[in-house]
Amino acid sequence: MKAHASACLALALAAAGAAAGDAHRGARLYEARCGGCHGVDEHRVGPKHRGVFGRRAGSAAGFAYSPALAASTLVWNETTLARWLADPEATIPGQAMGYRVDDARDRADLIAYLRGL
Ligand code: HEC
Repeated sequence: MKAHASACLALALAAAGAAAGDAHRGARLYEARCGGCHGVDEHRVGPKHRGVFGRRAGSAAGFAYSPALAASTLVWNETTLARWLADPEATIPGQAMGYRVDDARDRADLIAYLRGL
């Protein structure tokens, strides 16, 4: 599985010129690391993610956000998502997501995936 992921990454980098994240790898990371709490089209422990890119933080209809996220005026884009995934609490103090992504490559690939939802 690791070998397959690197092969995918190498192919995607060759095709995309290495700058942007790899959405294909991001999809696999999402399933493994975010899917326990998030769904693309349904709220779980965390809010659904369809359309999250470009949306104001804490604004998916029907999800009971923490007061901190609900009051945030951040808009989700490459920069804000990268900050959030690296350290949610530093990005929006008082938020309720107890998870972070330490690897910058993983963050970039996850963001490339979220962007396409
Ligand atoms: C342990 C459960 C959990 C995991 C794992 C988790 N999240 Fe979350 N996430 C949450 C919760 C809960 C919230 C809402 C936080 C709040 O209301 O303060 C949230 C909020 C978010 C938001 C803000 C969405 C919005 O509508 O404003 C994004 C973006 C996000 N998560 C991305 C991710 C990604 C990407 C992953 C995987 C790397 C991930 N999360 C893993 C629980 C989780």
